[in-house]
Amino acid sequence: MLICTTKKELREAIAAQKSGGKSVGFVPTMGALHQGHASLFKRARAENDLFVASVFVNPIQFNNPDDLKNYPRDFEADRRLLEAEGCDIAFHPSVEEMYPEGGKVERYNFGSLETVMEGAQRPGHFAGVGVVVGLLFRLVEPTRAYFGEKDFQQVAVIKELVRQMGIPTQIVPCPIKRGEDGLALSSRNALLTPENRAKAPFIYETLKASLELASRPCREVKDFVESRIASCPLMKLEYFEIADPDSLQSVPDDKPAVGNQGFIVVWMGSVRLIDNIHYGAL
Ligand code: PAF
Repeated sequence: MLICTTKKELREAIAAQKSGGKSVGFVPTMGALHQGHASLFKRARAENDLFVASVFVNPIQFNNPDDLKNYPRDFEADRRLLEAEGCDIAFHPSVEEMYPEGGKVERYNFGSLETVMEGAQRPGHFAGVGVVVGLLFRLVEPTRAYFGEKDFQQVAVIKELVRQMGIPTQIVPCPIKRGEDGLALSSRNALLTPENRAKAPFIYETLKASLELASRPCREVKDFVESRIASCPLMKLEYFEIADPDSLQSVPDDKPAVGNQGFIVVWMGSVRLIDNIHYGAL
């Protein structure tokens, strides 16, 4: 596996290895890699001639300086996992390399996709994601790019990004990878205290239990989820929303949940956990 730390090295490495119309599978990450990332890597490896990944903690998508400071970083462990998953080129730039002083970046406007849920709670987050993923897409020019559905709203934003950039990259959403106890895998899980880690699967248990109410009005489903989470003293609900899976606009309280997506954010101590579930037909 080749490790590139500059844009120039990356461009040259891709140009050298991509010749002859080879397909490129790309997985952008912020490192602290786990089996959720590995499931994306496996697909990128299996479905493309070249597999490229990036490891970059993007400061401009954090709206909370403590979150940025505490974000787990271990490039040595990341490198080992990428190598084991058959990565051809890993891009691991510094902040200065990605955002040179005085350099210009392309900005995008995701309209209503970025003003709801994660966009409303984390102002500027999706603008920052758009800038970095746009930059990476221009460098890598991937045939396919892989994103986990744990960040469901991010997938919608990235699809819109590709549309606005006018590039042919296919966005491949990948199902949420969960631990055996049901907790959605996340780099942030490593920051949970043992007591909070043991209780955290209750979030997904609650979402799964709420599927029974799919045919009921959204208000009933919300009441159910809100009261279950409130019953756990270790958890603080930031929001639970039921929204259309394409537009991400919230479904009126009197309409049934079925066909829509439930989105939850729960704090456990200083760790923010997110998850989502689809209310399919019963
Ligand atoms: O999902 C992530 O890890 C990040 O938001 C991404 C897509 C790598 C952009 O920094």
